Amino acid sequence: LVRTFAPRTQNYCKNYQHHLNPQASYYKVAILGAAGGIGQPLSLLVKMSPLISDINLYDIANVKGITADLAHCNTPAKVIGFTGTSELADSLKGVDVVVIPAGVPRKPGMTRDDLFNTNASIVKSLIEAVADNCPQAFIHIITNPVNSMVPIAAEVLKQKGVYDPKKLFGVTTLDVVRANTFVAKKKNLKLIDVDVPVVGGHAGITILPLLSKTRPSMSFTDEEVQELTQRIQDAGTEVVEAKVGEGSATLSMAYAAARFVESSLRALDGDADVYECAYVESNLTELPFFASRIKLGRKGVEAFIPSELQGLTEFEAKALEALKPELKASIDKGVAFVHKQP
Ligand code: NAI
Repeated sequence: LVRTFAPRTQNYCKNYQHHLNPQASYYKVAILGAAGGIGQPLSLLVKMSPLISDINLYDIANVKGITADLAHCNTPAKVIGFTGTSELADSLKGVDVVVIPAGVPRKPGMTRDDLFNTNASIVKSLIEAVADNCPQAFIHIITNPVNSMVPIAAEVLKQKGVYDPKKLFGVTTLDVVRANTFVAKKKNLKLIDVDVPVVGGHAGITILPLLSKTRPSMSFTDEEVQELTQRIQDAGTEVVEAKVGEGSATLSMAYAAARFVESSLRALDGDADVYECAYVESNLTELPFFASRIKLGRKGVEAFIPSELQGLTEFEAKALEALKPELKASIDKGVAFVHKQP
C-alpha cells in the first residue's frame, strides 16, 4: 500500500521519464526554516525530485550560502533563497507545496509541548503569509508540537477565510519510518517489506503504532508489542538524548519529510495510488484532528481508511482511548492560542 523510499527509486526512474515528457507538469516547493537542521538535508533530498521545477528556500538567516551550495547540484529544480520577513511573501508566490520545519527543537529533558510558546508564534506568522500568498498550496507542518501547531494553522487559515482541511497536514511520516525500521529489525525482515500504520498524534503516548495492522501480516507477543510501542513512542527522545543538547532528529526527519513531499507531488500529478499517514482534520474519532492513513489526491486528502481503526487488539483499543485526553488538550491549547491573540 504505502511506498517507501526503495519503491521511490523506481518512481525516480518513472519520474525521470516524466521529466523527458514535454507535456509533463512540474511543481514549486517552498521550505520555511530551510537553513535549519532539518531544512538543509530536506532541501537536498527535495532537490533530487524530477517533479519539481523550483525550490524556494526561506529562513530568517544563513540562506544565501545554502542556496549557492545546493544550486550547484545538476538536477533540474531551480533553487532560490529568500532571507528575512521582507522576502517571505515572494518565497511563497505560486507555490504548490509549503513545508514548515521552522522553529526550535527539543533539548534533553524537554517535551515537545515545552516548545509551544516559541514555535506557536513562528507557525502563526508563517501561516498568515501562506494564507496571503499561496492559499491553495498543500501545507506540511513539521514544527513541534505538531499536535498543537496544526490546529493553530487551521485557525489562522479560517480567520483568513482560506482554510481547506484537505490540504493541511501535520507530518507524522517519521513515526511510520521508525516503526517500519524497528519492526523489520525485531522480526528479521527486509525493511522494504514492512509497513506499520501509526495513528493518533505526534508526541509521547499519542503516537500509536497499530502493530496488528502491520503488512505483511505477522504476529507479535505481548512483550514485543509493549517493547516496540514504547520504542516507537520514545524514538524522538532517544535521538535528543544521543545528541546531548545539539537538538533532535534532523536526518531521519528530512528523509521522512522528503517522502511526504514526494507523495504529495505524485498525488498532485494524478497518481491514483498514494497513501501516507498524516495528522489532519478528521472525523474518524471524536477528536477534530487525528493522524491516520489517508489517500492523497490532486485536491489533498481524498479518503480516510476507517477499517484501519476497526478490529484493534485490546492493547491498541486501550491505548487509543488513553491518548485521546492528551491529544484533545493539545488541540484545545492550539485553538486557544490563536483566539487569545490581540
Ligand atoms: P533548527 O533549530 O536546527 O532549525 C530551525 C530553523 O528554523 C533555523 O534555521 C531557524 O533560523 C529557523 N527559524 C526560526 N524562526 C523562523 C521564522 N520565524 N521563520 C523562518 N525560519 C525560522 O531545528 P530543527 O532540528 O531543524 O527542528 C525544527 C523543528 O522540527 C522543531 O520544532 C522540531 O521539534 C521539529 N521536529 C519535528 C519532527 C516531526 O516528526 N514532525 C521531528 C523532528 C523535529
